Amino acid sequence: MLTDKMHQALNDQLQAEFFSAYLYLSMAAYFEDEGLEGMANWMTIQFQEEQTHAMKFYRYIIERGGRVELQALEKPQKDWPSPLAVFEEAFEHEKMISGRINDLAELAIAEKDHATHNMLQWFIAEQVEEEAAVDTIVNQLKMVGDQGHGLFMIDREMRGRTFVDETQGE
Ligand code: FEO
Repeated sequence: MLTDKMHQALNDQLQAEFFSAYLYLSMAAYFEDEGLEGMANWMTIQFQEEQTHAMKFYRYIIERGGRVELQALEKPQKDWPSPLAVFEEAFEHEKMISGRINDLAELAIAEKDHATHNMLQWFIAEQVEEEAAVDTIVNQLKMVGDQGHGLFMIDREMRGRTFVDETQGE
């Protein structure tokens, strides 16, 4: 059984992962509108990944005998001043999510919930990858000055990203 505090915190994180999905889909729509297909593809895959993160919390709460309670999602931002601004925001967002996961791990220790602490290790490792991936794109965009041929080349490279559900097959 989950403690009330742990149950609430996991349910809140499920919500945060769905909001991440929603935010990235909004970023994908921005890139579609800008004609940057590769970046739209990258963000659409990010949207799919975040849903798998949310569903990992969903399944875990149920597995531990908890009741999932879905909440309202905030309206995500619609427009950004540049592709770089989008990825900079995505980087800040991932850092915020990493902070939340760390807080959850600390709560699990405080609640003596070793099973939840163990489950969260997957997310701790995932956040390292997520932050690194977005940071690389931010740096590439800065290098090419966020425009012109360089931007086109980065966008073309991002068309190749495909979706893999990393929460499966553990
Ligand atoms: Fe679910 Fe991007 O962290």
